[in-house]
Amino acid sequence: MKSIVWILAVQLLARASSQGELPAPEDKPNEAKLMSRISVGNAPLEQRNYQVAPAPYNLAEQSEPYNIAFDYHNYDQMTRFLRATTSKYPSLTALYSIGKSVQGRDLWVMVVSASPYEHMIGKPDVKYVANMHGNEAVSRELMLHLIHHLVTNYHSDPYIRWLMDNTRIHIMPSMNPDGFEVAKEGACDGGQGRYNARGFDLNRNFPDYFKQNNKRTQPETDAVKEWVSKIQFVLSGSLHGGALVASYPFDNTPNSRKSISTLFKIVLLYYYTSCLCCKDCAGPQRCALSYASSPSLTPDDDVFKHLALTYSTNHAKMSRGVACRSSQKGFRRGITNGAEWYPLTGGMQDFNYVWYGCMEVTLEVSCCKYPPAHELPKYWEDNRMSLIKFLAEAHRGIHGFVMDEHGNPVEKASLKMKSRDVGFQSTKYGEFWRILMPGMYKLEVYADGYVPREVDVMVVDQHPTLVNVTLHAAKRKDGNFYRPQQQPPLYHRPSIKPQQPGFMSSITSGFNNLVNFFG
Ligand SMILES: *[C@@H]1O[C@H](CO)[C@@H](O)[C@H](O)[C@H]1NC(C)=O
Ligand SMILES: [Zn+2]
Repeated sequence: MKSIVWILAVQLLARASSQGELPAPEDKPNEAKLMSRISVGNAPLEQRNYQVAPAPYNLAEQSEPYNIAFDYHNYDQMTRFLRATTSKYPSLTALYSIGKSVQGRDLWVMVVSASPYEHMIGKPDVKYVANMHGNEAVSRELMLHLIHHLVTNYHSDPYIRWLMDNTRIHIMPSMNPDGFEVAKEGACDGGQGRYNARGFDLNRNFPDYFKQNNKRTQPETDAVKEWVSKIQFVLSGSLHGGALVASYPFDNTPNSRKSISTLFKIVLLYYYTSCLCCKDCAGPQRCALSYASSPSLTPDDDVFKHLALTYSTNHAKMSRGVACRSSQKGFRRGITNGAEWYPLTGGMQDFNYVWYGCMEVTLEVSCCKYPPAHELPKYWEDNRMSLIKFLAEAHRGIHGFVMDEHGNPVEKASLKMKSRDVGFQSTKYGEFWRILMPGMYKLEVYADGYVPREVDVMVVDQHPTLVNVTLHAAKRKDGNFYRPQQQPPLYHRPSIKPQQPGFMSSITSGFNNLVNFFG
């Protein structure tokens, strides 16, 4: 894609204006009071309709040893572990639900941080979302072990302490708890449990920048969309299984002659060989046929490559790039552009990046989607360092505040790095973050009623650069406000292109269905 469009996230929900405060310590916290005052992200939770699950103040439970077994945890067991964690570590964790699955299971998120109940002004919020394909089960257990590891090492490991003191880590162990309940341990491939209870693939269910997504939106997807609209996440990992690779945006690609010709090649090959292959088909036939799609690169490609490499090189084997099966291709250094691997419509990582400027990478953490439980210790050891180092990358690049002449925060200022035309916005505290590699950049800042500004910034490797931007009101002599002259195409939402009619679109959608079994 050569033409660059500046996209800015529109906050769907007005940010709350009042700031939450922590309740005064009490012997036995009053649930209602705790719930009404707790905050996650930039505003109190109750104004986001999130209720914090109170820690069970049960002495018997608190005195039990706090452990996590290398075993799969179904919904009830997972819920019990999360509640036990908040009970044991009330000052380092908070549990909230962002909504419910089709079958009514809570979509739990655990915040792990030195400030679990309240956003730390100036410090980034990051997230992991696992098990959105319900049968990709390793990711779910990795998240429970990560939670356990973070809280139990806070006082002994200076790096983890630094990370938790300076970052709010939101961990969703399962975005598809219904799917997990019907998935089968030992099933390395296939689609049982992959979909939500209505049969929808959640990683094909998000609004798409490149193509119209006609899939009916699902409760799990809606919950995540609302969540990311309320909290300005800086960095995110979406965990999957069925491959061993870190895959970065874009996942989708504009309709182009090239991709259509690729499509025809595949269709032709299909007829010649009567065997349609993909990286991990669930179908009965497999062969070594492979095809190459074109990469679909973002203006932040250097950053995304770096983030993906951070995961793969800290992983015990991912960066070797060895293919999971002989029929698959390997990935150089264990990373790939999403669309180059295979294009998909409605994926979560493109949505995070294009709509909210949150850099999300898809982490495929196991060749076998649901390996036997006795293999879990190996998976945890392989991924432990990657999971921690990846999150720390939120502390790279620039961060700062947009303020007016009186030092008041300017909310929803539109920012972008010159020539990287995917924008981001300031929070209600005027905060912003952008992950960038070392170098010189120009930061462009626009806000309604202010004179636009361009600020030169230098990014170094060792620490993030603090950039405070003061905006001056664009006032005329008669007291009326000018509109900024160089207003960019603000709130340019991804345009929905009409579906191509006829033959091609039916092949395209058929093709999309066929590749749905990928990790
Ligand atoms: C930047 O602004 C923040 C928020 O107003 C303030 O706390 C901080 O001290 C400022 N830093 C610099 C270097 O101006
Ligand atoms: Zn997956």
